[in-house]
Amino acid sequence: MIENTFFQTTKNIEKAGAYYTDVEHCERLSNLFDFGTGDVCILEPSAGNGEAVKTITKNCINRKIFAVELSTEAYIGLKNDQDIFEAINCDFLQTKISHKSFSFCFANPPYIDDEGRMEIEFLKRIANYMSDGGILVYIVPYSIATNKSYLRTYLSKFEPIFEFRFDDAEYAKYRQIAFIGKRKTSSYDNDVLNEYLGRKKEDFPLIPKQWDKEKIIVGESKEENITFFTSLIFDEKLGYENLLKMKPQKNNLKNIAIEPFKDDELSNPPIMPNENSLYLLSTLGCGSGITGTAEDKDVHLQRGCAKIVKNTYQEENEDGSIDEVVRTSTQVSVTILENNGNITILE
Ligand SMILES: C[S@@+](CC[C@H](N)C(=O)[O-])C[C@H]1O[C@@H](n2cnc3c(N)ncnc32)[C@H](O)[C@@H]1O
Repeated sequence: MIENTFFQTTKNIEKAGAYYTDVEHCERLSNLFDFGTGDVCILEPSAGNGEAVKTITKNCINRKIFAVELSTEAYIGLKNDQDIFEAINCDFLQTKISHKSFSFCFANPPYIDDEGRMEIEFLKRIANYMSDGGILVYIVPYSIATNKSYLRTYLSKFEPIFEFRFDDAEYAKYRQIAFIGKRKTSSYDNDVLNEYLGRKKEDFPLIPKQWDKEKIIVGESKEENITFFTSLIFDEKLGYENLLKMKPQKNNLKNIAIEPFKDDELSNPPIMPNENSLYLLSTLGCGSGITGTAEDKDVHLQRGCAKIVKNTYQEENEDGSIDEVVRTSTQVSVTILENNGNITILE
């Protein structure tokens, strides 16, 4: 299939570009780098199953891989992978990540056009997150490797070190070229851009099977500098789960110096306080919490509530006429939710 046709297939868009980098090529790329002995924080913005980034950085003894992945299925694999330090399930273009914090990045972004080429949009964002001098390995198809807009972005943010093409059998699939560059801040020369624009497939050498030349030194980067590694989109379900873990009610009660319920100090069955005490307790927020004990199997959630109720009744006057009287009062109720699902309202 020719590359343009390949890009336009809806199948490719549906799959969100989910074809993983050939691991044998990653092995060969891994020979190029010297990661030293210090900490190296590694960014993988579209990690898939994580095998590619793990293979390329396999010689890094103190690595911390931070992975982003859009597919929830692939993300679950990353989350359970001991070699992945942190993973988030979201669109890389919707992330909040500390700037200038990664000294190494491997990316094989989705090769799709979705309001702009993803390879270019990813690159702009990656550049923000990498430290000066940080090393990038970026895999793109040949059509992007010689695309003016891509090259302008790449050359303005990275000092080119090498570019290699994949072996013929693998190249036939996606025409992949690996760019290896160093994050910089200076501008580029137009002659360099023109040279890249005119490159043919053969102008990109194959990824070497052995590497006897000087290795590319990867600098250190510290986890402490990565204060943000999160999605910009609020995940309601995850937010709720985390909120429950924080036990906000107990902690808030502690903050305002009110002792929350303690399981082992409760009488069983719970005795209803008198009406005035109930009202006070409920308005103070004390009438809420988990009560009962695990041993007695009667743990339940108790929540106090005070509401204004209106009672209407008829009153006979001396002359025999009838008046409708409305009385307003405060009614305090305690709702008990037991862990077996029973709901009891004490009033
Ligand atoms: C070409 S695959 C590469 C996977 C992996 N980097 C590798 O080299 O084997 C692209 C990956 O990007 C993911 N992806 C697609 N769109 C994404 C987005 N907007 N943000 C993050 N990941 C995305 C896909 O689910 C897929 O796993």
